[in-house]
Amino acid sequence: MPSTVPPAESVGPLERGLTVLRALSAPGADDRMRHSDLVRSTGLARSTVDRVVSTLDRLGLARSDGREVTLAPPLMELPGAYLAACGIPAALGPAAERLADEFDESVSVAVPDDGVAGVRFVLQTTRQRTMSLAFRIGDLLPAERCAPGALFAAEWDAESRRTWRERQAADPLDAGFATVPPLARPQDPDAFERRMARAGAEGWACDDQLIEPGLVAVAVPLRDGAGRTVCAVSVVSHTSRHTLDSLRATVLPRLRAVRGELEAALAAPRPAPSGITPVRDTSLETKRELGPGFLQSLARGLAVLGALGADRGEGMALTAVADATGLARATARRSLITLEQMGYVATDGRRWRLLPRVLELGCARLSELGLAEIAQPHLVSLVRRVHESASLAVLDGADIRYVARVPTVRIMSVNITVGTRFPAYATSMGRVLLAGLAAGERPLLPEVLPALTRRTVTAPGELGRIIKRAAADDFALVDEELEEGLRSLAVPVRDGRGRVVAALNVARHAAHGTPEEMRAGLLPALRETAAAIEADLRVLGGAIGVR
Ligand code: PHB
Repeated sequence: MPSTVPPAESVGPLERGLTVLRALSAPGADDRMRHSDLVRSTGLARSTVDRVVSTLDRLGLARSDGREVTLAPPLMELPGAYLAACGIPAALGPAAERLADEFDESVSVAVPDDGVAGVRFVLQTTRQRTMSLAFRIGDLLPAERCAPGALFAAEWDAESRRTWRERQAADPLDAGFATVPPLARPQDPDAFERRMARAGAEGWACDDQLIEPGLVAVAVPLRDGAGRTVCAVSVVSHTSRHTLDSLRATVLPRLRAVRGELEAALAAPRPAPSGITPVRDTSLETKRELGPGFLQSLARGLAVLGALGADRGEGMALTAVADATGLARATARRSLITLEQMGYVATDGRRWRLLPRVLELGCARLSELGLAEIAQPHLVSLVRRVHESASLAVLDGADIRYVARVPTVRIMSVNITVGTRFPAYATSMGRVLLAGLAAGERPLLPEVLPALTRRTVTAPGELGRIIKRAAADDFALVDEELEEGLRSLAVPVRDGRGRVVAALNVARHAAHGTPEEMRAGLLPALRETAAAIEADLRVLGGAIGVR
């Protein structure tokens, strides 16, 4: 009789998937990694890496051409789930902006990551730029090298203290922290002991160039109703503007004065998550379609992680997680246990919540992506689909400026590259960008607009009507007004708040057909591409708050 083996409690594919995501997110890693590099850095078999990557690609969390892989913006939903559940960016974002304006210095908020005796940033408002280092949301710092770390360490239990000692012994120069310059010689652990004792006694802490020469910071803790430190607010400056003493004298009284208000904002009841669609489990259908190339339990485990983003501070019961994902309780439970073992979630035995370590899954890297990088892969897909050159441009004064472009054949007399400018009034992208602005916000156009071709519309009244029309149609088509023989069609691209931030276009020879044929043939693809870029902008902007 075969023995009945009890089902393994942890989920292997989920564990391996997270290992790959972590390797792709490592601060030192290149934006693109070869599958073979992943094999090396994770120690997983090539076939495992390939299956993990194809699953992540299928889920839209990474993009792979079979050789190289990069993280994709939708992955931000995972760190975004932690940021939503902890509630800190939403509760403190506006106040942090006000303080940064008031001090004209960067203000940040960090949380403890006790699993590594570290500190992670959850909010950043960067003001001054003379610092060579600016930390990103999700970046991890050793507790002993920053102001918030001393505040958190003041409350460490024996286990956290052991974690710190072991980490220091294993990596005395902080080589494992890619976000801070390594130390020249090991720090004196007693110095940190003294700093944490002082931070505990005085209720504030400082960083006198612990990270790098010139960087100084002052931090105060924010506590919850039970008196536990939840996070720390730091004001960061540079010795070219402040000594540590002058920084403390300027900001500490103010930080202490607003502390109650910040703690009240943190403690305020939070609205139930809105707009979060349950992460329904569709992995079975995908599995049927893709077979062994798709790791269903990885997909399910990541859905569980995302579902915990609906937590509003009390943790979520297993039933709620199972309901939100559509998974059986036993399946959801196995995922939760794996996530717990890997340090991404914690439980009190009844309820589950996300931990700051979730921020290591792509947050810092993805939060840095600019419009051009976000749009580029979508332009590539569009060009593959319609076989015409596609571009993305922004308004710059009365001009449009190209920020991304994927050419096919050259049809313009001038060679367009990123940075090329054209007068907005004579281009399809310019017209949708102008249409996206309220009349009062539009740049003043020159009194006399030159006609660039026989067809260029230059009469202000007629241009006004055309722009109004573009606003109503949500696209613009310009037929040989910029250059003879060139026709172009553009749609707006909006950010998460609905503001038009860019325009997307395709251009073709006028000899190619009628303008109406161009509209009918290309507008749907253009609109779908704009919608895909907008979805990326939404997930990135939504996760880290204001953008
Ligand atoms: C930062 O927000 O960049 C920061 C905060 C506290 C420090 C150092 C840097 O001690």
